[in-house]
Amino acid sequence: MNKDTGTKFSLHAQDGLARRGQVTTAHGVIDTPAFMPVGTVGSVKGLLPEQVAASGAQILLGNTYHLMLRPGAERVGRLGGLHRFMNWPGPILTDSGGFQVMSLSALRKMTEEGVTFRSHLDGSKHLLTPELSMEIQHHLDADITMAFDECTPFPATYPEAESSMERSMRWASRSKQAFQPRPGYGLFGIVQGSVHEDLRRRSVEALIDIGFDGYAVGGLAVGEGQETMLQVLDFTLPLLPAEHPRYLMGVGTPEDIVKAVQRGIDMFDCVIPTRAGRTARGYTPRGTLNLRNARHQEDSRPLDEACSCPACIGHSRAYIHHLFRAEEMLGPILLTLHNLHYYQSLMSGLRQAIEEGALDHFVQAFREQQALGDI
Ligand code: GUN
Ligand code: ZN
Repeated sequence: MNKDTGTKFSLHAQDGLARRGQVTTAHGVIDTPAFMPVGTVGSVKGLLPEQVAASGAQILLGNTYHLMLRPGAERVGRLGGLHRFMNWPGPILTDSGGFQVMSLSALRKMTEEGVTFRSHLDGSKHLLTPELSMEIQHHLDADITMAFDECTPFPATYPEAESSMERSMRWASRSKQAFQPRPGYGLFGIVQGSVHEDLRRRSVEALIDIGFDGYAVGGLAVGEGQETMLQVLDFTLPLLPAEHPRYLMGVGTPEDIVKAVQRGIDMFDCVIPTRAGRTARGYTPRGTLNLRNARHQEDSRPLDEACSCPACIGHSRAYIHHLFRAEEMLGPILLTLHNLHYYQSLMSGLRQAIEEGALDHFVQAFREQQALGDI
């Protein structure tokens, strides 16, 4: 990469393998370790952008697949890009589309050229290629563009994992070729290779050879289990260049995030806090609660005494329980807000602990709290 283009990464502190840093993009700075709320179709479901910002989020994730189908990337571009369209002035990272095609669309067919599929919305036929994915993410004005890849399904045979990884690396090279370098705008490569150490190594080597602003670890949290995922991180992360950010895609629970930060991951995205919020599940330092459960119906306490989010200031568990039972939209809204606050306060705690060289102590206290359970 030309040194005047791309996103920048600076490392401020380390504690063991854990890193405290900053990613600088065209639309602002991201403190890492960072959690990116998912704003798939140009909204974090149910929330105003200012509420998302107030939770502590500094960057959102958007999706190529959804936005290309509706309202169309060129239309978003004509309307000033995704930041302007959704009124989120901060950084945005967009996923490249292949992962969502495979999980959401009908009649998918993968070829060397790309993926042909039928829209889950109207059945229309599309071909998504590395070149088109770069063009779409450019129209969206993503601060961080993801290379076009295949998330290798799990389980896969070794030959399947190998040829899938090799194709993703050819697509990574085509992504780099098609990406238009600009100051403040970065391109991240995605490591594949399933659970195999030699394939992950070859994938990392191929990506470093191409050269990216950041390196994502893909193909995880797809059914392999936490222990296997952590093993893959254990042998993959030391291979990645320390001077670039590392992003673990689609992860995870608070426990997953803590363990991945301890191993050197800098960025995360996951639907868990937002999806859980819509289905009445609230995250607290003492574990999760189902707010639909009758045991909350006369509980006048807030969801989390220590939380300063809009749901916990002034609203009781009984009230949130009532909102869910009555199917009032404020229920999912309050719980999504709370869960995002919880995730962001976890990230802020992790960042501070790394700065203070006190990560082990922080993790121990985190576990002790979780072990207590709700009262
Ligand atoms: N989201 C979760 N896992 C993946 C992956 O392997 N690739 C992409 N592009 N997105 C993901
Ligand atoms: Zn709260």
